[in-house]
Amino acid sequence: MAGKLMRAVQYSSYGGGPTGLKHVEVPVPTPKKDEVLLKLEAASINPVDWKTQKGMLRPLFPRKFPFIPCTDIAGEVVEVGSGVKNFKAGDKVVAMLSHFSGGGLAEFAVAKETLTVPRPLEVSAAEGAGLPVAGLTAHMALTQSAGVKLDDSGPRKNILITAASGGVGQYAVQLAKLGNTHVTATCGARNMDFVKSLGADEIVDYKTPEGSALKSPSGQKYDAVIHCTTGIPWSTFEPNLSSNGKVIDLTPGPGTVVSSVWKKLTFSKQQLVPLLLIPKGENLDYLVKLVEGGKLKTVIDSKHPLSKAEDAWAKSIDGHATGKIIVEP
Ligand SMILES: NC(=O)c1ccc[n+]([C@@H]2O[C@H](COP(=O)([O-])OP(=O)(O)OC[C@H]3O[C@@H](n4cnc5c(N)ncnc54)[C@H](OP(=O)(O)O)[C@@H]3O)[C@@H](O)[C@H]2O)c1
Repeated sequence: MAGKLMRAVQYSSYGGGPTGLKHVEVPVPTPKKDEVLLKLEAASINPVDWKTQKGMLRPLFPRKFPFIPCTDIAGEVVEVGSGVKNFKAGDKVVAMLSHFSGGGLAEFAVAKETLTVPRPLEVSAAEGAGLPVAGLTAHMALTQSAGVKLDDSGPRKNILITAASGGVGQYAVQLAKLGNTHVTATCGARNMDFVKSLGADEIVDYKTPEGSALKSPSGQKYDAVIHCTTGIPWSTFEPNLSSNGKVIDLTPGPGTVVSSVWKKLTFSKQQLVPLLLIPKGENLDYLVKLVEGGKLKTVIDSKHPLSKAEDAWAKSIDGHATGKIIVEP
């Protein structure tokens, strides 16, 4: 593909939101030894993508401008690097790109073999592209931080999932219910039936007094909170936690980190745990197989063509998506 041009969407400085995105033609990237070149069929947007554009993760991300954002993709392998063993041209896959390099809002992208997994026919490109950041984060929070065993073998745990209607929350509810759990979920009134359909045992509307107090209607104390939204103080969580309860904060600011260290130093049994996704190919493969087997679904909020990627971007910034926002080249 050397020398061939592709359509892509990129930004060249911090800030600007949807209007900072520019449609360009750039060379199709060339895969390195351990990479595959994919013709993309779908990409999904995560809040981290526009937070990066805002400069919230500077100077780490992005490393340089111009930058093609988005990491979560599904497509077809068209070329492989010389060291790639498990894929060949024509294979359908799901992959996660590095936050350093991005590249998902384009017709083609190069992905590391280690974060590329096969996509069976039963899993559409959009369903697959929804999984990487949101699905892996839900998986890591539940299995690693909250200690839920997804084969239903562990002790019963009471779990609260905040913002259960969002990209991470919808996967977290479904994955939690594969384990031995009682799930309470918060969402807005319009999404209560939807979150119930994902398997949540109890739902509270976050705009009611009971919902904003995170109270379980049946009086459950939570062993773990998968906290997918922001702006809820520790004093609201504390009375709702079991004696060893943990809040797993997916959007940790400096305050979370300080509180988390303080609770460790003071031997507090209730813990605040900041979570940063460490993506693993084997876990992505596990999630794709759950979708294949009908045990997990990607709920899609909306699909947008690459030519209107700024609409998808604006929708994510708005913060009211139900499920995943997909961009299709
Ligand atoms: N640490 C990590 O590695 C990591 C990884 C992935 C995501 N994250 C972070 O996790 C957060 C969630 O990500 P996401 O992709 O799930 O976001 P998202 O899809 O944009 O979440 C949108 C949903 O949140 C709901 N919501 C907003 N405020 C709420 C509240 N106070 N209570 C209950 N529901 C509320 C909205 O419902 P309404 O429309 O009804 O308001 C909407 O359905 C983001 O801050 C993201 O940056 C962190």
